[in-house]
Amino acid sequence: MDAPALSNMQMRDVETLIHPYTNMQAHRATGGQMIERGERIYLYDDQGKRHIDGLAGLWCAGLGYNEQELIDAATEQLNRLPYYHIFGGKSFEVAIELAEKLKEKFPVPMARAFFASSGSEANDTQVKLAWYYNNAKGRPEKKKILARKKGYHGVTIVSGSLTGLPNNHRAFDLPVDRVHHTTTPHYWREAEEGETEEQFVARLASDLEALIEQEGPETIAAFIAEPVIGAGGVLVPPKGYFEAIQPILSRHDIRFIDDEVICGFGRTGEWFGSQTFNIQPDSVSLAKQLTSAYAPLSAVLVDQDMAEALEAQSGEIGTFGHGFTYGGHPVGCAVALKAIEIYESRRIPEHVAAVAPRFQQHLARAGEHPLVGEARGVGLIGALELAPDKSGKSAFTPPAKVGVKFQDEMQARGVILRALGDTVAFCPPMIIKEDEIDALFEPVEAALDATMAWARSEGLL
Ligand SMILES: Cc1ncc(COP(=O)(O)O)c(C=O)c1O
Repeated sequence: MDAPALSNMQMRDVETLIHPYTNMQAHRATGGQMIERGERIYLYDDQGKRHIDGLAGLWCAGLGYNEQELIDAATEQLNRLPYYHIFGGKSFEVAIELAEKLKEKFPVPMARAFFASSGSEANDTQVKLAWYYNNAKGRPEKKKILARKKGYHGVTIVSGSLTGLPNNHRAFDLPVDRVHHTTTPHYWREAEEGETEEQFVARLASDLEALIEQEGPETIAAFIAEPVIGAGGVLVPPKGYFEAIQPILSRHDIRFIDDEVICGFGRTGEWFGSQTFNIQPDSVSLAKQLTSAYAPLSAVLVDQDMAEALEAQSGEIGTFGHGFTYGGHPVGCAVALKAIEIYESRRIPEHVAAVAPRFQQHLARAGEHPLVGEARGVGLIGALELAPDKSGKSAFTPPAKVGVKFQDEMQARGVILRALGDTVAFCPPMIIKEDEIDALFEPVEAALDATMAWARSEGLL
């Protein structure tokens, strides 16, 4: 079949934009999908068709698309002070207030907040801070960072190196040295024949210990992890995982960086993923739902030990030579403060916990379909991993075609999801109601049936 003729807007798009995470060649033939406006959990395209946004934008628009209080907070701040910075000791109250609020909300004591604009910048900063810290402590050799295969931490040179996904490295000459990846905590895929979940966790702990021994604990500064791996396929850690690995890291004086960029602010049914999974981090990365995505803002929270080391080292050097023009942007800070106020007053984490069982039941039911290898999730985040069978040991070849087909079948039925290889992620705005969760899943069975018929016809099954 010939590709459909592109509309004028699609042509302009193809001729002008470099689209992230897009096959640019294929995009030239098919054209893009134009989104015109949003309302609560719905997006409207340029044909006026309504879609449920099953991924909250990119796991971030937690309060949906027309939250007037966020718009008002941004407008008021734009009228008062549309921009200023906090370089060279300058400051303004909305940044101070947000830092105070984040320290108050995070369950593990944190001493200071550093602001940037994106999750990648936050994690890049985490690595630079870990290096600066160890130089301050007189341990210049303690610089390596451990991450996990399939973890996602962003795309800058260092955060892209922390990310443990081949397509983020391939042809970009990444990862840089100093970054090492340990085993993915995904029981269904990674467990060995006959291994119980408990035994699997013990093996992950011993893999980590072995990597630390091999590299030398005196050379390792930090370990970074998402409570739930998001873009790597929505991988919920097995029971006892963080409890098993944290003592190993502490024993070797390796700092724990908690990447809460997706999990933070209610996604798991608690304020932070660290509470759901019993993590005691030394520093934290926040972004996405920090502002419900209405303004780009990220934050790094650091403990007292780090704060003291930064202060001492900057005193020695004469400055803390790091910072972004838009780090602590007043509009971002005002929107974040309002978003947090809404999460509190409308009890959004509690709402997520209340509706999560319905969401997870739908996922589990979809998991019974023969095309679904595993259904998994926690709170209002989940995924269906499509596979030829349910063994956890088989996968489609070539990969990523079946997942994209299911994503497209869902989109044709009015639900926007995101295919991550052959795993399709669900992460709707946190304000979603129970009947809307039913509507989100309503087309799943028909879309799976259509995808399975297509996979057979293509010889993929
Ligand atoms: C856990 C996590 N960390 C970091 C990032 C990178 O954030 P950004 O795309 O804002 O740079 C993401 C983005 O999806 C993420 O999911």
